[in-house]
Amino acid sequence: MNDNDRLLEDLGRRYLEAYPHAGREWDRAADSLIGGGSHTLRLFSPAPFRIGESRGALVTDGDGQEILDFWQGHYTNILGHNPPVITEALTKGFEAGYGLQSGIVDSLQIDFAELLQRQIGGERIRFTTSGALANQYAIMLARAFTNRSLILKIGGGWQGAQALTLKGVSFRDGYDHAETEGLSQDMMDRVLLARYNDPANLEELFRQHGDEIACFILEPWMGMGGFMAATVEYLRTARELTSHYGTVLIFDEIISGFRFRAGGVHTLYGIEPELSTYAKIVGGGMPLAVVCGREEIMRLCGPEAGRRVKFDGGTFSAHPAALLAGFTTVEYLAAHEDEIYPELGRLGEKMRRGVEEVFSRAGIPVICTGDGNEVVPDSSVGMLHFPVDEGLEIISPEHVSRRALHRAYRRTSAVAPPGV
Ligand SMILES: Cc1ncc(COP(=O)(O)O)c(C=O)c1O
Repeated sequence: MNDNDRLLEDLGRRYLEAYPHAGREWDRAADSLIGGGSHTLRLFSPAPFRIGESRGALVTDGDGQEILDFWQGHYTNILGHNPPVITEALTKGFEAGYGLQSGIVDSLQIDFAELLQRQIGGERIRFTTSGALANQYAIMLARAFTNRSLILKIGGGWQGAQALTLKGVSFRDGYDHAETEGLSQDMMDRVLLARYNDPANLEELFRQHGDEIACFILEPWMGMGGFMAATVEYLRTARELTSHYGTVLIFDEIISGFRFRAGGVHTLYGIEPELSTYAKIVGGGMPLAVVCGREEIMRLCGPEAGRRVKFDGGTFSAHPAALLAGFTTVEYLAAHEDEIYPELGRLGEKMRRGVEEVFSRAGIPVICTGDGNEVVPDSSVGMLHFPVDEGLEIISPEHVSRRALHRAYRRTSAVAPPGV
């Protein structure tokens, strides 16, 4: 056993002493749930604490201990856990007989679509239930619109657990591999990978394949790949190349949407994609996602175009409680935009620099990414990286990939260590 393993074992033992309920429940879960639960990110070692109550910044575990939570529902809870503004709207809705699935359309869906048009633009909107589905539908629309099949995505980019882009998410001596079994080689061959914030690489990819690329899907502010902003130059290059080659530009705003302002981050860059996808914050803690964009593309899933694209169905699409939570959240963020976002930026900056300072005092250099740039203001998020190569700027997921850990950077998740 090396020093690292010994340290981990010791931390694990101390954690289980501090969180006995977590250990007991972990043993119990093993008999019913594959891998102990249903979302790997939540199942951290040696045993995740189980949540009882959650309010604001705090969650309470099964032993009644309060834990400061920086994870906030996969970065969804921009107003903290269970904010009264949303829970009260839901309670009132349920009391008035509105909330669980009816399977019948309601007017809130139109109200919400109108509100979103004002806040995020997009000529037409359709709701679905998850970010993964939203991205899958956006790609299907782009393929149908262009009559092409190649998908360009970022190496290290995550567009959710849907079959079309499960390639090149994790780093294993590079990104050129499928993330899962069960997909055909042909599907994988149709996904090309670009390097984030590298305009020359993008130009080369378009020179080689531009006429066959249906869509370029990317986050205009990269979340899962390491919390880093796109440079203005990169997004401008992306816009110019996609326009030139007739490729649909899709902005995945599932993390960046409503994080820097009460709308998409793309408006701060002044760059309009053909399609955008939103989820997380836009559902106010409920399963809701949005695809929006140009009418001539969106219409391909509508009746006028013979529903060519099967962006349809979904028992829980535009679920009443999700519409209510999402509408209430977006309305609140829009009404309080000028107070909320500068304050989130100030607190985020304090957290990022504070975390770096604490490590630096212990003689460990860390970089906490999540800062704004010349067009994107600061936000409330931060991700911790351990540089072993001082001076390397973190502008692409490759700089923080796990396998590159020994060469360049080590990375932890954004979850605060739970008190160990
Ligand atoms: C950038 C990005 N796109 C897509 C998704 C998938 O969204 P969902 O988990 O709602 O399917 C996520 C989820 O973390 C994400 O971060």
